[in-house]
Amino acid sequence: MKINGETKLIGFFGSTFRTSKMYAMYNSAFEALGLNYAYIPFMVENIKKGVEAVRNLCIHAIGVTIPFKISIIPFLDELDKDAKRIGAVNVVINNNGKLIGGNTDGKGGVRALKEKTAVSGKKVILLGAGGAARALAFAVKDEDGELTILNRTISEAEELAKAVDCQSGGLDELAKLMSRADILINSTSVGMAPDINKTLVDKKLLHKGLTVMDIVSNPRETRLLKEAKKVGCQLVFADRMLLWQGVLKFKIYTGIEPPVEVMEKAL
Ligand code: ATR
Repeated sequence: MKINGETKLIGFFGSTFRTSKMYAMYNSAFEALGLNYAYIPFMVENIKKGVEAVRNLCIHAIGVTIPFKISIIPFLDELDKDAKRIGAVNVVINNNGKLIGGNTDGKGGVRALKEKTAVSGKKVILLGAGGAARALAFAVKDEDGELTILNRTISEAEELAKAVDCQSGGLDELAKLMSRADILINSTSVGMAPDINKTLVDKKLLHKGLTVMDIVSNPRETRLLKEAKKVGCQLVFADRMLLWQGVLKFKIYTGIEPPVEVMEKAL
């Protein structure tokens, strides 16, 4: 990589800045295409000042993750359609001093799903109603998936379902809905380390023909995915969503078609 006076900087804002795999993914893609960009970490202590720095230093763009996805919003100039309806940002582009927030999480998740199954016209059960579920819900609906949102706190499921325009309910409805479902997405934190033996889905409800996606990335193969594999379901791992949300961001950063294979290999 040759840094010079023309190099465009893209910064990473998030608590995982020391361990993120995104540096390898983007920088190897820039190198492969001979693009004069560099993706670098920032240790952000105060998000307002962090955004001021982006303006003052004319940083080209920012990749945003936890804990700044929502707290960064008041300091931006504009949100695109996805960021606005999701209510969270995972990318900021500096358009001649105007900072515009976007969100590729939902579309990235659906791209991951579509590697294994069509979504249009399919019965999709989404578990959870937090930030990740919100991003996925709009994206599944955009693909004409027939969506039902189930959540432990029913009022949260109802609220999201109203925004997205779909069905909702509590987790106890799973037993009734599963036999007719095509796609099941766990977008809760259940199953994440250290509680790797937890799952919201009784394995008796899993059936062949079902595609099961889990947004939990640690462990890669959650208990839900392990049990789904035994039954012969199609599996969608969280790292595919991570790849695709990043691939979509690359296009936003550079305006150039992403070298998906290079990015995949780096990840
Ligand atoms: P994220 O932004 O990563 O989606 P979040 O907004 O905290 O995180 O959302 C976490 C989701 O996991 C919620 O849907 C939460 O359900 P509640 O709305 O009832 O809190 C769900 N969740 C977390 N722990 C859970 C558990 N033990 N059982 C069922 N659902 C759980």
